[in-house]
Parts: sequence; structure tokens; C-alpha cells
Amino acid sequence: MRMSSRSYAAALGAAALTGLVGAAILTLPALSPLGDAFAQSDKPKASKHRAKSTKAQPAKAQPAKAAAQEAPPPITDDTDDPAVWGKTFPVHYELYSKTVDMERTKYGGSEAEPRTPTQADPRSVVSKSKVEEDAGLKAMWQGYAFSADFREDRGHAYANIDQQNTGRQTFAKQPGACMNCHASSYVAMKKQGDGDVTKGFEKMNAMPFPDAAKLVSHPVSCIDCHDTQTMALRVTRPALIEGLRALKASQGIQNYDVNKQASNQEMRAYVCAQCHVEYYFKGAERRLVFPWAKGLKVENMQALYDEIGFRDWTHKDTGAPALKAQHPEFEMWSQGIHARAGVTCSDCHMPMIKHGGQTVSDHWVRSPLLNIANACMGCHSKHDAKITAKELKDRVEAIQDRHWKLREDAMQALVGLIDDLKAAKAAGKGDAELKTAQYMQRRAQFYLDFVEAENSTGFHAPQEAARILGESLNYARQGQIALRDASFKPTVAVVDIPPPPALPPLVSPAAK
Ligand code: HEC
Ligand code: HEC
Ligand code: HEC
Ligand code: HEC
Ligand code: HEC
Repeated sequence: MRMSSRSYAAALGAAALTGLVGAAILTLPALSPLGDAFAQSDKPKASKHRAKSTKAQPAKAQPAKAAAQEAPPPITDDTDDPAVWGKTFPVHYELYSKTVDMERTKYGGSEAEPRTPTQADPRSVVSKSKVEEDAGLKAMWQGYAFSADFREDRGHAYANIDQQNTGRQTFAKQPGACMNCHASSYVAMKKQGDGDVTKGFEKMNAMPFPDAAKLVSHPVSCIDCHDTQTMALRVTRPALIEGLRALKASQGIQNYDVNKQASNQEMRAYVCAQCHVEYYFKGAERRLVFPWAKGLKVENMQALYDEIGFRDWTHKDTGAPALKAQHPEFEMWSQGIHARAGVTCSDCHMPMIKHGGQTVSDHWVRSPLLNIANACMGCHSKHDAKITAKELKDRVEAIQDRHWKLREDAMQALVGLIDDLKAAKAAGKGDAELKTAQYMQRRAQFYLDFVEAENSTGFHAPQEAARILGESLNYARQGQIALRDASFKPTVAVVDIPPPPALPPLVSPAAK
């Protein structure tokens, strides 16, 4: 069902329009007890005229003449408020603010679920819970925060508020490292490091979540992707700078500097790779690391985690040293035909559009299936003049339907292994006897999750996703055989994962 912020505003009885609601949520103060996030429209005065003109002419929301004549406020390297950038770039800001809208596609987009706001969680709308709908996900994450709350992703406007209110926050204490990807944190990192962004990054990673959250106020904003003077794309996140350096080193290129050496086309993917990637928190300092030192493929990351003996948690029902994969869109895309053809994230998720009398990159980042005419047709109609948007959508859904079937089969196999391990434990088998099956669970689970957590339902690299699911299924079934036959030798070496180290608790800077 289509539910836009507009219908929400109506449902809530709030006289808010997209621009206004978007601006309100995009400037939410961190952790403030809000009555209703959607009704908070007092702050961003800049958007008022926009809301009005949006009403009159939805497609054209240029500012009123009076506003255009005022000299816009300067944009400096400390301006993280997108509304301030919006005074100079009203069309971009208006499109960016539309990421509050929620609309479902067959497998993607997002579906809005109204909820009654509370003092603790001010959200009046959330996205659908995936973990409540899928017993397999719950089984695979037993003992880990994701079993408590895991929802479908939604627009950038919600990135800050959703990280603060996820049920994972009450399940376990989270580090400040979340701020890298859920907030406009460039200015905060720079301030914390007295001008040295990497130093500030290190400081914020190691803070308890609430301390770091106090330092930020917006979700991903203009300053996180753009140079403030030239508007050129730039990478602001140390974790990506370091991740790419490690990746390039594995390919024989030393001291790679993404901001100096990447082409503009590469930057159109790298700005997204600041966040849409697999990661882990390394050691006591909870450093945010992208595990690419051996390459971008799932087996490269599995090998790295095995080598350093890393586990995200110990599976509660089986004792397996488990891994959690997170949104590897960049890694998966890099294995697909579009990456091979030089087509980047921005080509599909931020296509050029005509809006407000200008031709701009669409800053309404969302599912391209809601925008096929702009996102796909420009390219594909060049190669096939007869192709229609409907035909392209059908092709995507055919890929996704096949993908989903295989994903279900792999999930069934994994749950089968988990059930068998539980039964073996109940029958009195000890960890030594279960080791092979536990290791196969670790593998089957990471491979399946790598594909599950990747948000395109197979589209970004269909064959690669199918290969990974096939391997996952194979590992799960081999784990089951190992439980039945102690002499069985799996096709991969079983790696010993040492017990997890006891990490010191996160310490609030105020207490230091
Ligand atoms: C050739 C076009 C194309 C390219 C290139 C591309 N995507 Fe996608 N992306 C899609 C399609 C199609 C979907 C599926 C959307 C759906 O199911 O509604 C998708 C889904 C997604 C989703 C989930 C969206 C949702 O609605 O839940 C995210 C996040 C995403 N892509 C990020 C990226 C990133 C990051 C990159 C680059 C590393 C990238 N995409 C490259 C076409 C593309
Ligand atoms: C490397 C970047 C990165 C880090 C670090 C990160 N996230 Fe995310 N997070 C994302 C991206 C990208 C999405 C959207 C794609 C998705 O949902 O899979 C997301 C989605 C979410 C969501 C919405 C979907 C869901 O899972 O329910 C929540 C909540 C969330 N993250 C919480 C957190 C918390 C809490 C932390 C810190 C422990 C954190 N994230 C750390 C990038 C990151
Ligand atoms: C600073 C981190 C960050 C950057 C940079 C970033 N994203 Fe995201 N993105 C997120 C998070 C976090 C979410 C999930 C927000 C939530 O669910 O609350 C998300 C959600 C999305 C979605 C889902 C939207 C929907 O309606 O379901 C898409 C698509 C997407 N991002 C694509 C991109 C693309 C393409 C780029 C690069 C042009 C990009 N993102 C850059 C963090 C980021
Ligand atoms: C997630 C990254 C990201 C964020 C956040 C972002 N942009 Fe962009 N922006 C891009 C990309 C990608 C392009 C295309 C640049 C290119 O190809 O050289 C772009 C292009 C632009 C351009 C050049 C003209 C055009 O439309 O191509 C302007 C101006 C601009 N953005 C303004 C803004 C403003 C203002 C904001 C905040 C309200 C913002 N951007 C937020 C990624 C981002
Ligand atoms: C900038 C150009 C460009 C854009 C934008 C683009 N594509 Fe493509 N697409 C290509 C190219 C090039 C290929 C590879 C064709 C070949 O080599 O056979 C391709 C291949 C495909 C394939 C075949 C995939 C496969 O794995 O065999 C599908 C399906 C597809 N595109 C769908 C889409 C959809 C849907 C969108 C919009 C979300 C889109 N494309 C956007 C250029 C583009």
C-alpha cells in the first residue's frame, strides 16, 4: 500500500506536507523526548514557503522570489544542517527531504506501520519488522540483538531516529560507532578530534552510544558527500578511506587515497560505500572496520574473520561462534554486470531528473523501481528502443522471485542444521563433538545473511547472490551430515575460533 508522508500527515491530523515533515525529521535533535516526530514542524522555518509552493505546484517547488533575493547563508566546512545548504540549493534540499516518504515495492521500498509514540520512542511511524515475520531469522540470531528487533530499511530521513530507537538498544549497550552511518557525523568527528577527523572518529567509536548521539543532529547530510566549496563528491568517513586502502593494498596498490585517486564515476559509488557495506567493530576501541583486506567477496571476508578469530556473538541454542552480515550493497554490486559496465549506485538511485525547472541528480534516494523511467530507461532504451518500464520491472521481479525461492531453501537448510545441533546438545553431546557442525553453521549463516542483509533481493548481482546461497545451503547440509557421521570431512577446513575476549565496557567521556 502506498503511504506517503502526506497521507500520514492527514492520518495524524497534522497540517504538514512532505517538505515540512521532511525538514522536521531531518533536523531532529538527538535523543530528545518528542511528542510526535511528524508533528514537530516548528523548527525549520526555511521550508515554510516550500511547503506552500509544493501545495500549489507539486512538481515545481522553487522558493518564493523574496527568499531567492536574500543572500543565502554561507556554507562552511562546519555546516551540517541540510536546511542551511537548502537556502543555496532549494531544489536539491526539497528532493532530499522527500526521503521521508514510504512506499512499498514487491520486495523493497518500505511499508509504513503507524505506532503510538511514547516518551521513550517518539516515532509515530516505523517500518515493518522482518524478524517478527520470519521465524528463520529469529532462529539464526538467537542470543543476539538482531533477534529482538530488525526492520526493513527506509529513507535516509529516518537514519538517525531509527538507530536511536531500535529494540537492539535495549538488548545490549551499543557503541558510538553507529554514528558513522546513521548521522551526519563529519563535523562532530572533526570537532572531537580538534580538526583531525580520524582522531575524532576513534574517540566517537569508543563512546557509549548516548554520548556520541548527543554530538549529532541530522541524518546523512550534504556535507557527508560534498566538498563545501566546490560541491565535488568527497569521502568523509575514515572507515571507508581505511577499508579501500586495505583493499587496494591486497591488489598491490599501496597508500591508496580515495579522495585524490578515484575517478568521478567511482566516487558516485564510493559516497554510498561510506555506509552501505559490511563492517565489524574491532577490539576494545570498537573501531569501525570494513573487512576488505583480502577482497570484497563473501569468502574473502569469511577468511579474514576466521584468521582473526572474530565472532559477533555465540549462538545461544547451539554454541556456534556466529557472524552477523550487514548490508553489503557495495560489495555485492561490485560483483554484478552493472558495476562491470561502469553503472554506479547514483546512476540508478540518484538519476538525473528535471525538477523545479532544473536538471539535477535526484536526491530523493529510494528504490529505483519507484522511478524506472528516470532510473533505468535512459540507458536501456538506448540499447532496445522498444523496451518499456513495465518490461524492465518484470525482469527485476523475475530475478527477485527466483532469488527469494533459493533464499527460502537456504534458510530451511540452516534452520535444519540449527535444530539438529540443538537436538545433539540435548542428547548430551559436548562442544568437541559438535565443533564441525558449529563451524558449518557459522559459515552457512554468514553466507545466507550476506545475501539476506543485502537489500536488493538479488538484483545487484543475481548470479553472485545465487552462488552464495548455493554454497550456504551446501554448508548447512554438510553440517547436518557431520552430526550424523563423525568421520565426515567437509569440503572446507574447520577453523578453530577462540573464545571471545572480555571487552572493557564503553566509558563515557564525562567519566574519564
Ligand atoms: C542498475 C541499477 C542499480 C545500481 C547500479 C545499484 N542499485 Fe541498488 N537497487 C536497484 C534495484 C532495482 C533495487 C531493488 C529495489 C526494490 O526491490 O524495490 C535496489 C535496491 C537497493 C537497496 C534497497 C532499497 C529498498 O527499497 O529497500 C539499497 C539500499 C541499494 N539498492 C543501494 C545501492 C548501492 C549502495 C549501490 C551501489 C553500491 C546500488 N544500490 C547500485 C538498482 C540499482
Ligand atoms: C557501516 C555503516 C553502518 C554502521 C556502523 C551501522 N549501521 Fe545501521 N544501517 C546502515 C545501513 C546502510 C542501513 C540500511 C540498510 C539496512 O537496513 O540493511 C542501516 C539500517 C539500520 C537500522 C534499520 C533497519 C533495522 O536493522 O532494523 C537500524 C535500526 C540500525 N541500522 C541501527 C544501527 C545501530 C544501533 C548501529 C550501531 C551498533 C548501526 N546501525 C551501525 C549502516 C550502518
Ligand atoms: C552516512 C551513511 C549513509 C550514506 C553515505 C548513504 N546511506 Fe543510504 N542509508 C543509510 C541508512 C542508515 C539507511 C536506513 C535508514 C533507516 O532505515 O532508518 C539507508 C537507506 C537507504 C535506502 C533505502 C531507502 C528506502 O526507501 O527504503 C537506499 C535505497 C539507500 N540508502 C541508498 C543509498 C545510496 C544510493 C547512497 C549513495 C548515493 C547512500 N544510500 C548513501 C545510510 C547511508
Ligand atoms: C549520499 C551522498 C549525497 C548527499 C547526502 C547529498 N548529495 Fe548532492 N550529489 C550526490 C551525488 C552522487 C551527485 C552527483 C555528482 C556527480 O556525478 O558529480 C550530487 C550532486 C549534487 C549537486 C550538483 C548538481 C546535480 O544535481 O548533479 C548539487 C548542487 C548537490 N548535489 C547538492 C546537494 C545538497 C544541497 C545536499 C543536501 C541537501 C546534497 N547534495 C546531499 C550525492 C549526495
Ligand atoms: C547507465 C546505464 C544503465 C542504467 C542506468 C541501468 N542499466 Fe541495466 N544494464 C546496463 C548495461 C550496460 C547492462 C549490461 C548489458 C550487457 O552487457 O549485456 C545492463 C544489464 C541489465 C540487466 C541484465 C542483468 C543481468 O544480470 O544479466 C537487467 C535486468 C537490467 N540491466 C535492469 C536494469 C534496471 C531495472 C535498471 C534501473 C533500476 C537499470 N538496469 C539501469 C546499463 C544500465
